[in-house]
Amino acid sequence: MILVFGGNGQLGQELAAQARASAARSVPLVALSRSDADIADADAVRRALAAHKPLLVVNAAAYTKVDLAETEVEAARQGNEIGPKLLAQACAEPGVPLIHISTDYVFDGTKTGPYLETDPIAPTGSYGCSKAAGEAAVRAANPRHVIIRTAWVYGAFGNNFLKTMLRLAATRDELRVVADQHGCPTSTADLAVAILSVAPRLIAGEDVWGTYHFAGAGVTTWHGFASRIVAAQAPLTGRSPPVTAITTADYPTPARRPANSALDCAKFARAFGIRARPWEDETDRITRALVSAQLGKAAHVA
Ligand SMILES: NC(=O)c1ccc[n+]([C@@H]2O[C@H](COP(=O)([O-])OP(=O)(O)OC[C@H]3O[C@@H](n4cnc5c(N)ncnc54)[C@H](OP(=O)(O)O)[C@@H]3O)[C@@H](O)[C@H]2O)c1
Repeated sequence: MILVFGGNGQLGQELAAQARASAARSVPLVALSRSDADIADADAVRRALAAHKPLLVVNAAAYTKVDLAETEVEAARQGNEIGPKLLAQACAEPGVPLIHISTDYVFDGTKTGPYLETDPIAPTGSYGCSKAAGEAAVRAANPRHVIIRTAWVYGAFGNNFLKTMLRLAATRDELRVVADQHGCPTSTADLAVAILSVAPRLIAGEDVWGTYHFAGAGVTTWHGFASRIVAAQAPLTGRSPPVTAITTADYPTPARRPANSALDCAKFARAFGIRARPWEDETDRITRALVSAQLGKAAHVA
């Protein structure tokens, strides 16, 4: 079976949902929440591996509060460096392969064009630094690893930018969104399907270990992403507030984010034959599904 840590997060919940949807043809999956197993607790990690005896572990757990990480440096280190290190060490002992998820924020954003796996990392904030340290710890502790760097993650579960924009579109007369940071919005559905497709090949011991990029196809800005979300919800809600482009300087945040964190995903496609869908298609699909569910619930209550 596949054992997922961080089962209550956006990706963790999507992995469980996608595994259920494809139960007949996939390896069974168990998702553990933080209260089941804290990855920064060596005993809890060992106990979980001993109890479940997984064929493969997916680490979907992480400290993901990019701005708070600037002050909660130790919490970010525990979740993003110490936790992955303990997990990788515990997997290495019985030879269990580990899929570990990392981020586009390990790059400083100064490159023109999408980042390759071989480009030098240079994180600009505490979150990116802690994730970079986590990658290094996984590589050092367990050679049987696949590290997947992804970006701008959104989906049906948990909290994300898409849900924030839906809330603002419902309540504000104008949305002001940063238009000078470029990246690849990635749906949890695409990412989970990719992870579940790779898993059997790692369980079979195929020599595909290493670091990969996997993100939604195409590149946009937060402003482009927000505009697409607002346009997709408008026919269902009747609300269409303008989305105004602003600069990073207009919206100062504690953490400095890369101006360009687009990821080149060709290596993943070559190795595993999978590419994510265009970010526009997934944004439209998920926006419509979330808004329809909300409207359905409201109609049911009324
Ligand atoms: N979100 C993005 O835009 C984005 C972008 C690039 C890469 N990523 C990476 O993608 C992966 C999945 O992210 P996500 O968006 O699904 O994050 P998420 O929704 O914030 O979920 C992370 C989960 O990990 C749990 N967690 C935190 N510390 C833990 C610990 N010590 N032990 C066990 N569980 C712990 C959290 O629990 P609590 O809620 O209780 O803390 C939460 O349920 C992460 O590696 C993240 O760095 C995310």
